[in-house]
Amino acid sequence: MGKKLTDKITWVGKIDWELKKFHGNEYSTHKGSSYNSYLVCDQKTALIDTVWQPFDKEFIARLKKEIDLKKVDYLIMNHNEIDHSGALPELMREIPDTPIYCTAAGARIIQGHYHQEWNFVTVKTGDSLDLGDSKLIFVEAPMLHWPDTMFTYMTGENILFSNDAFGQHYATESLYNSKVDQGELFAEALKYYANILTPFSQFVTKKIHEVLELNLPVNMICPSHGVIWKDNPAQIIEQYLKWADNYQENQITLVYDTMWNSTRKMAEAIAAGIRETDSTVTVKLMNAAKRDKNDIITEVFRSKAILVGSPTINNGYLFSIGGILEMMKGLKFKNKGAAAFGSYGWSGEVVKQLTKQLGDSGFRVVDDGHRSLWIPDEMELAVCREYGKQFAQAL
Ligand code: FEO
Repeated sequence: MGKKLTDKITWVGKIDWELKKFHGNEYSTHKGSSYNSYLVCDQKTALIDTVWQPFDKEFIARLKKEIDLKKVDYLIMNHNEIDHSGALPELMREIPDTPIYCTAAGARIIQGHYHQEWNFVTVKTGDSLDLGDSKLIFVEAPMLHWPDTMFTYMTGENILFSNDAFGQHYATESLYNSKVDQGELFAEALKYYANILTPFSQFVTKKIHEVLELNLPVNMICPSHGVIWKDNPAQIIEQYLKWADNYQENQITLVYDTMWNSTRKMAEAIAAGIRETDSTVTVKLMNAAKRDKNDIITEVFRSKAILVGSPTINNGYLFSIGGILEMMKGLKFKNKGAAAFGSYGWSGEVVKQLTKQLGDSGFRVVDDGHRSLWIPDEMELAVCREYGKQFAQAL
């Protein structure tokens, strides 16, 4: 059954407790997710967003228990990635003429996905739709995080339907932000920002200031994943402004992979050197082949600097390091120091390659890195510790 948010608004989404991976295998969802859809019943009725395609029939069956589908006057599609638009084909089979309100990019994306000529009404920032007592006002938010994204603000109820922005992959029956474990909630919101929104931070800042300047009262922020921000909704807006502003904590993360533990021993020695130099800094070691890639990205996001390590194999670096470097490149981190390290037996070119790759990906290269021949002995581990000290001092 749906869950009433107010007299006029009912949550009619799907909580996906079983979800382990999202975007194919690109995003790990340790705590599941939800696809939030909202039914707005005023004198006119609107449905805001749908759910992911595997749940389309279930979604429509449950929606029919809330309302006669023929009474849905408008569909509002804030964003048309499949996790939100996936139930549209099934829904449009039932109510084929219902107008779909979306941005121009949204209409193109829906057509590109489902190849149907539905009744699109394209909207721009400031356009509104009268529902009777209340109005829906549309605000385009391109690249937050797709070109089609928009927010919908409902007057009277003072609710911002923000789609992916402010969301979290976090399954909960509790619905509201104040009703869940705050540590879990903010960890998932941070992971979501780090892995999805980082490259669009400049748009995040601009859009938030644009919306704040409208001085609209906001009683709730209703995103398309995770909890609804009802208790002090401004807190997630303030948090987003911090995350969008080249966020960092006093943390250094070493991301490495190792074949016969030489590079791991180097990582541990470098970490010890960093700690000797600065006892306040949080140092984390993450083996890229063993740890979850999105958790690694989240720790990189929190760091003021990173060290990336790999042994040299076949004149290059290990597979897991190649993958995580590609993710870091795409996410366009800013204002973070970086350097490389690794063990080698003969050619040993990896530290140079990693250093170049880190610089090309927007990191501030702190030094030329450090490499160790074969298995580091006590003397070489002392050199690694010394290298860690120098790295920390150079930041
Ligand atoms: Fe939740 Fe960009 O879709």
